[in-house]
Amino acid sequence: MNDLFDFKPKAVRFAVMGNPVEHSRSPEIHREFALQTGINLEYDRIRIDGGFEQAVSHFQASNGAGLNITVPFKVDAWKLCNRPGNQLSNRAGTARAVNTLRFEENGTIYGDNTDGTGLVTDLEQNIGLALESLSILLIGAGGAVRGILEPLLACCPARLDITNRTMSKASEMADLFGEKVNPVTLQETGRRQYDLVINGTAAGLEGQMPELDSHCIGPNTLAYDMVYGSRLTPFMEWALDNGAYAVHDGLGMLVEQAAASFHLWHGVHPQTRPVVELISKIHHVRSI
Ligand SMILES: NC(=O)c1ccc[n+]([C@@H]2O[C@H](COP(=O)([O-])OP(=O)(O)OC[C@H]3O[C@@H](n4cnc5c(N)ncnc54)[C@H](OP(=O)(O)O)[C@@H]3O)[C@@H](O)[C@H]2O)c1
Repeated sequence: MNDLFDFKPKAVRFAVMGNPVEHSRSPEIHREFALQTGINLEYDRIRIDGGFEQAVSHFQASNGAGLNITVPFKVDAWKLCNRPGNQLSNRAGTARAVNTLRFEENGTIYGDNTDGTGLVTDLEQNIGLALESLSILLIGAGGAVRGILEPLLACCPARLDITNRTMSKASEMADLFGEKVNPVTLQETGRRQYDLVINGTAAGLEGQMPELDSHCIGPNTLAYDMVYGSRLTPFMEWALDNGAYAVHDGLGMLVEQAAASFHLWHGVHPQTRPVVELISKIHHVRSI
């Protein structure tokens, strides 16, 4: 049909970009939000092997309105938005990692990080765990963990320890927050039992888990894996075997961070609970 007589509103394009992205549930989530709010959009998965900035500008030039950025490109996305002309939200500036890009009409790019608000909303509102005064162990020091440290601290936990396979990265991250975040080695994780243990590593994507001391888990521990999938992750199984009273995967965080990205792109905050329930029903046991 001649475009002149095609009066249907054109769908704006969004996508999640990273590697791997095949497992990503973001397209289903954004389509559900779009149905709920009556917004016409396309949302795809784009897997890239490198060439991050070229891939972003190619997408921007092909009617792209926004991108979610996932592993391992969140720091590259921050570097792109940190260039003169582009812009960063305060929280993305502090995290030095970006998971949401919005392409502005003047051609510039705005970068935000919605991972932290996604995690905290899932823990506090969906799961019902008040973070204030809890002792928390955070495992990992990649792009995702950069985004969640400040929002976790804002909830005033009694203690926040961080560990990682490459310990120097965990120490660097702890240094950014002074005395509020304590670096501990993987071997030292058994020195205390935590109220909340968050696995923020990508190990579960390869069917693995970090080499933690099992004494960090006990009957008062809730274990949360930011990875999600169609079955319990190795970390969730390990936590249950070691006596955690509950385990959750990162599906609720995914839906909550997606809702915050959706708000940034469309100015509307969608309802998340029906989407968490729908996606959990299709895919798996989200929590035990
Ligand atoms: N649910 C959600 O909404 C959500 C949001 C964001 C991220 N995530 C998930 O969070 C994970 C981390 O994402 P990211 O962006 O931070 O990735 P990233 O920047 O690539 O960082 C990867 C992290 O995982 C660690 N790691 C990787 N393989 C490991 C293994 N086999 N054993 C122990 N540690 C391992 C790395 O340790 P080294 O430093 O030693 O390499 C690093 O700390 C991903 O699985 C991602 O899917 C989920």
